[in-house]
Amino acid sequence: MQLLQSRKQLAAWRQGLAVPVHFVPTMGALHPGHQQLFRRAAEPVVGQRPAVLASVFVNPLQFGPAEDFERYPRDLAADAALAEAAGVTALFAPAVEEVYPDGVAALTAIHPPQGLQQVLCGRSRPGHFHGVATVVVRLLNLVRPNRLVMGEKDWQQLVILRKVVADLGLPVWVQGCATVREPNGLAWSSRNRYLSPAELEQATALPGALAAAAQACRAGRPRAETLVGEVRASLQAAGLVVDYVELVAAQSLKPLAVVSGVALLAAAVHCGPSRLIDHTVLMSRSPIVAIDGPAGAGKSTVTRAFAQRLGLIYLDTGAMYRALTWWVQQQGVDPADAAAVAPLLEGLDLQLSSGAGGEQQVTINGHDVTEAIRSPGVTAQVSVVAAHGCVREALTRQQQAMGERGGLVAEGRDIGTAVFPDAELKVFLTATTAERARRRALDLGQRGFAVPPLAELEAQIAERDHLDSSREVAPLLQAQDAVELITDGMAIEAVIEALVQMFRDRVPEEAWPNPV
Ligand code: PAF
Repeated sequence: MQLLQSRKQLAAWRQGLAVPVHFVPTMGALHPGHQQLFRRAAEPVVGQRPAVLASVFVNPLQFGPAEDFERYPRDLAADAALAEAAGVTALFAPAVEEVYPDGVAALTAIHPPQGLQQVLCGRSRPGHFHGVATVVVRLLNLVRPNRLVMGEKDWQQLVILRKVVADLGLPVWVQGCATVREPNGLAWSSRNRYLSPAELEQATALPGALAAAAQACRAGRPRAETLVGEVRASLQAAGLVVDYVELVAAQSLKPLAVVSGVALLAAAVHCGPSRLIDHTVLMSRSPIVAIDGPAGAGKSTVTRAFAQRLGLIYLDTGAMYRALTWWVQQQGVDPADAAAVAPLLEGLDLQLSSGAGGEQQVTINGHDVTEAIRSPGVTAQVSVVAAHGCVREALTRQQQAMGERGGLVAEGRDIGTAVFPDAELKVFLTATTAERARRRALDLGQRGFAVPPLAELEAQIAERDHLDSSREVAPLLQAQDAVELITDGMAIEAVIEALVQMFRDRVPEEAWPNPV
């Protein structure tokens, strides 16, 4: 591991690198929580091993006049040993003059939006988040990393930095990593070092109270009044001095009266000489991802892989419409005749399940149609069947029932608009018609079907887009809050990685851990 102490040394190190750089900023006094961030930062992305740069810099800008800047623990030798053991490639440990050559008295500062920085910790630490945002932007400009890796423990800091990065258009992805805890439940923090053994014991009331509240929420008591009241009472009973206990929306940090979406129950307490923070993430159900988009955009392939990567159930609603179309054809019913199709929906037994190798299997009324539903005959008529109001209604109802507990990614045409309008992440995955025709030709060839000329496939795709977008019931529409992802020129792995990043921007690891 290289030790870099000046901007010049950092620039020389950075210049020689051909691999992505993942950056973990710290204030030193490193502990197992940091060690985990370093390990996570060292994980390969799309098969490529990154270089991991950690910084140790006690930033004077983020300490208030009565705070612990002077006595903040500093031990570079111990930090370097820990960082090296955790796979850090280079450690940047600059003096204050290296980071702020013109001093700190009249510095250009970053002011994150008031709504994010004057709540929770910002109320009792005025100026703190200006200091954090200013130093992180300064460090990002020096390091120019591809990824900024931070702990979810300092959730407000993470939300603010994501906003700063987005607003300033900085070309870096901010990755949040789950809080690491000591065996007694206490979140690792450099400030735990200030605590005596008795205070350490007392401090465990903080994670204990939050865990009990999470349990209460799961047991059907999701109101802020109840949750906050119970946490506050437990903290006070343990002799901790409460700074705040609040239930807020995890992204906007706005107060919530009841748990909805991704919620954060956060608390700060004074314990002996330390101010400690912690939180728990609460949701009324597990997360849902909606992936919509036109035919042939490669949704199925990437959604299946994305689901596997995050341990989500894969709900391929297109396969359900295809299976029904197959059944309609088998019954000799005219696919365009809604009145003739409607009776087939009564008592319909349509099942999606996972085969031994994780691949999806589709059965309808006892027939395994996994392969048959991919035939050109079904492809030609699925839009017609899917346009009937009675069909949409029946299958939407079944899909919503399948998604009641969440923990799934659903793919289709109207998932974000009609089936799961409250999904945590909505993506509109698309590609140009030319690109989709090319992919369709490849797929047909691989499945052993005849491959029509590309121009013909393009015309078919355009026609299908038109049918899907112009039908009266649940047309193909990009939900207002969906993110558009145009996949032309992107390798499948890159699309999956982009989806994972979007998911993680919205759903903390604590709420939905990565599968092991
Ligand atoms: O979380 C921290 O240790 C600090 O706030 C950070 C991000 C290194 C900025 O000084």
